[in-house]
Amino acid sequence: MPPEKVQVFKSLEGWASQSVLPFLKPVEQCWQPQNMIPDPTLPFDEFTDRVRALRERTAELPDEYFVVLVGDMITEEALPTYQTMINTLDGVKDESGASPNPWAVWTRAWTAEENRHGDLLKTYLYLSGRVDMLMIEKTVQYLIGAGMDPGTENNPYLGYVYTSFQERATFISHGNTARLAKEGGDPVLARICGTIASDEKRHENAYAKIVEKLLELDPTGAMVAIADMMRKKITMPAHLMYDGQDPRLFEHFSGVAQRLGVYTADDYADILEFLIGRWGLEKLEGMSGEGRRAQEFVCGLAPRIRKLQERADERARKMEAHAVKFSWIFNKELFL
Ligand SMILES: [Fe+2]
Ligand SMILES: [Fe+2]
Repeated sequence: MPPEKVQVFKSLEGWASQSVLPFLKPVEQCWQPQNMIPDPTLPFDEFTDRVRALRERTAELPDEYFVVLVGDMITEEALPTYQTMINTLDGVKDESGASPNPWAVWTRAWTAEENRHGDLLKTYLYLSGRVDMLMIEKTVQYLIGAGMDPGTENNPYLGYVYTSFQERATFISHGNTARLAKEGGDPVLARICGTIASDEKRHENAYAKIVEKLLELDPTGAMVAIADMMRKKITMPAHLMYDGQDPRLFEHFSGVAQRLGVYTADDYADILEFLIGRWGLEKLEGMSGEGRRAQEFVCGLAPRIRKLQERADERARKMEAHAVKFSWIFNKELFL
């Protein structure tokens, strides 16, 4: 990244302290996983009664639902990868590991908030007895080992466009797993997914605010960055997932998420449209020719994505449903 762009983030340190850090919640006001799972210090009978009640609640949820929830949980569990990715970004990375720079403070505290998501989902899934924890743990180990490359090229303009998009994507998918848990008879799991979704929303607001500030200070640079990320397509953070068995695991998991309506191609287009509105991209002015071309591309993209998706759906309908085995649910088959 050119030095003058690094300078932009240096000059925004005061602003970040005042306008970004308040999106964090003080630890003492945060929920913890233990608030939402059976307390192991209860007398043993009471503890097992609560676990039994948890299992009764999850009994009616279908295997498809568990595949999606497991995939979401594994995505959360690869958190070291996301912190690493943010710490590749010039001008905002944590230079010492405990840097007082507000960008670094944000990244560490964001990571610490996020860390509760995987912990909570994992414990709940463990207690449910519905999933193969050993295969799930293997998948997490493979995934963290594989990492990810979202194409952000050490550039925080690109990095914060990516995180704005991603946090909204997780807000939507956890919101949908909450709704499905409620419909499937587990209000506690619904509350868990909903609580996680509200963290994601808060994080989305912080990242979107950073991009909004960049659009104000450097409209061409920020607009070109948005177009660049959209051209590359926003890859899902867990796209390199593998369980040691299925080389197309991510595609299969995404297929189930799409079918259940937890996260779909339509959501992708919706997020793009939402961010275009949130950032006022259609009315953005004061850009060079390059910026205006980027604007034109981004603002016309959502209808094109939807059209392509309609055609893909059409093709999918004509294809015969095929069975896919998921190790996470003891190699049971689901139809895709
Ligand atoms: Fe999360
Ligand atoms: Fe998140």
